[in-house]
Amino acid sequence: MKCIFPPLIEPMRFALFADIHGNLEAFRAVLGTLQNGRIDRHICVGDIVGYGANPGECIKLVKDLDCLAVAGNHDWAAVDLASIDYFNPYAKEAVLWTRSQLSQEDRDFLKGLELVREPHGFTIVHATLKAPEEWNYIFSASDAHENFQLLSNCLLFVGHSHVPIIFEENGGYRYHFGRKVNLKEGQKYIINIGSVGQPRDGDPRASFFIYDTESRQVELRRVEYNVDEAMRKIVEANLPPVLAWRLREGE
Ligand SMILES: [Fe+2]
Repeated sequence: MKCIFPPLIEPMRFALFADIHGNLEAFRAVLGTLQNGRIDRHICVGDIVGYGANPGECIKLVKDLDCLAVAGNHDWAAVDLASIDYFNPYAKEAVLWTRSQLSQEDRDFLKGLELVREPHGFTIVHATLKAPEEWNYIFSASDAHENFQLLSNCLLFVGHSHVPIIFEENGGYRYHFGRKVNLKEGQKYIINIGSVGQPRDGDPRASFFIYDTESRQVELRRVEYNVDEAMRKIVEANLPPVLAWRLREGE
């Protein structure tokens, strides 16, 4: 099914990030690089908390930026809206620790996050459009196909896998791994924006995207941050050390 980009009334530049996971060092580094260019709206595609040592501080930054945000599985798990039965032991321990760190205000904010939003003519969801509350992944062309069928806009931004990738529906399916992609009229795209706070594609740098409606271009950005400091805080908080070590490798 073809789609049409919304008419360009007012050009907008969006910064989109996901899977911050309480990593304040990574999040601050991302926001630091955005200071030099124009951003009209910040978008957060879920998992502000979980794993990292600064959940409350990351929630505050998201609120201060007036981010348009959706819920991730860790956000909802931290306020008991999602089950942690299927979490691995490290993730489970981190969620339980995160719960102990949140203020009532933080909890209210996370509870208020919706699963799907459609701002500015595109769609955002943390996991999938098909049963977003089941927290499945879009890995394969067949996963992408199911979600393209449900997508009425041209663009769907997702997170959850912590691996940046773009699926293009153009009669068949095409994968883009490059940094910049020019979006074509009539084509649909599912864009996984990668993870700010716990990348898993072998590159430890924080990952996020810029979407420019005027040039109709999406761009993957990677930013170095103080990984050692983020690791130190995780160990100091008595969170599972593996959550620190994996940051260094980006896996
Ligand atoms: Fe995540």
